[in-house]
Amino acid sequence: MRCNAAKQRQSVIARPCAGPWADCAGALLAWYTLNRRDLPWRAQPGKAADPYRVWLSEIMLQQTAVAAAKPYFAAFLARWPTVEDLARANASEVMRQWAGLGYYSRVRNLLACARIVVEDFGGRFPDSEAALLSLPGIGPYTAAAIAAIAFGQPAAAVDGNIERVAARLFAMETPLPAAKACIKEKTRRLVPQHRPGDFTQAMMDLGATICLPRNPSCRLCPLRKFCQAYASGIQENLPRKKIPRKRPIRFGACFFVQRKDGALLLRTRPPRGLLGGMTELPGTAWEARLDLSEAVKQAPLRADYRTLERQVAHSFSHFALRLAIFVAEVPAGRRAPAGCRFVPRRRLGREAFPSLMRKVIEAARLGGINEPVAPRAPLR
Ligand code: ADE
Repeated sequence: MRCNAAKQRQSVIARPCAGPWADCAGALLAWYTLNRRDLPWRAQPGKAADPYRVWLSEIMLQQTAVAAAKPYFAAFLARWPTVEDLARANASEVMRQWAGLGYYSRVRNLLACARIVVEDFGGRFPDSEAALLSLPGIGPYTAAAIAAIAFGQPAAAVDGNIERVAARLFAMETPLPAAKACIKEKTRRLVPQHRPGDFTQAMMDLGATICLPRNPSCRLCPLRKFCQAYASGIQENLPRKKIPRKRPIRFGACFFVQRKDGALLLRTRPPRGLLGGMTELPGTAWEARLDLSEAVKQAPLRADYRTLERQVAHSFSHFALRLAIFVAEVPAGRRAPAGCRFVPRRRLGREAFPSLMRKVIEAARLGGINEPVAPRAPLR
């Protein structure tokens, strides 16, 4: 099936599916009743969902796998059980609790959203997709997911998993991302008026457990008889994707400067932009090339540096990074240069280190510097 852009533009208000597609949602819901994943943010069957839990989980799951999000979700709920608690929280404490989850602009938006919900909506999340969409950190997918799961609105939430399920169900030949609008439109027509939240979560579960990117378990799939890709034997080839451009590589260096008393030289990144507001070791800019003899001239303070053999590799969504590490030990009384601070070893666990910096500290430790790495799990 190919997208028909003109037809898509006409159908602003989607009509529910008729004919065999109407049975499709029913088959999926029957499967979900028996096979739903038990996830900490989900309401028990037949119980109302808590919008705060739904929202918090959806923000965490925007760029993070379910297994990785679970301990963070538990830690956040334990620390800030309601949106009012979170709205009152200190920004750097929330950042610290988020450390390791990545995509840190989410933290700023999380807090801004909690505060708007408390101040402008009396502590109740709005229940319409449009109002949710106006809140910080809530895009079209998240607005639809919250509207459907927390408020029972027949909204079509289409994330990567659901996109794959729908692309196969409708045998969409148009490659992604061009097919996105068409997939959304077709998914919207599938959403039932009854149990739309369960339908959304069922699509998520189907995508995560059966309709897998490779080797989908079609034999177990409740939608097999509806699936047009399965009927043509092309399910493994869908969704088609435009071949992405190769990610560029950037290079940089950072300076692991440890005082004799164990304190480590750190600084805080600017509040906006990549890893905004997170803690890092001082370092150079990340650029297309790196000359180590030039890089060492950017050291934050004068010391006897050596270069670690091992570099740290890290992937961001739009580029790959290789970091060289300079290490040095300095006397206990040494003062930090402007913009940096020496943090005692016992307080390192309270710093908001992104995963990249945890890797750097680990590499420095393996390279002979005896520095404990801050815990990888969320801080409790
Ligand atoms: N991925 C995104 N949102 C999700 C949810 N609510 N449950 C499971 N996986 C998800």
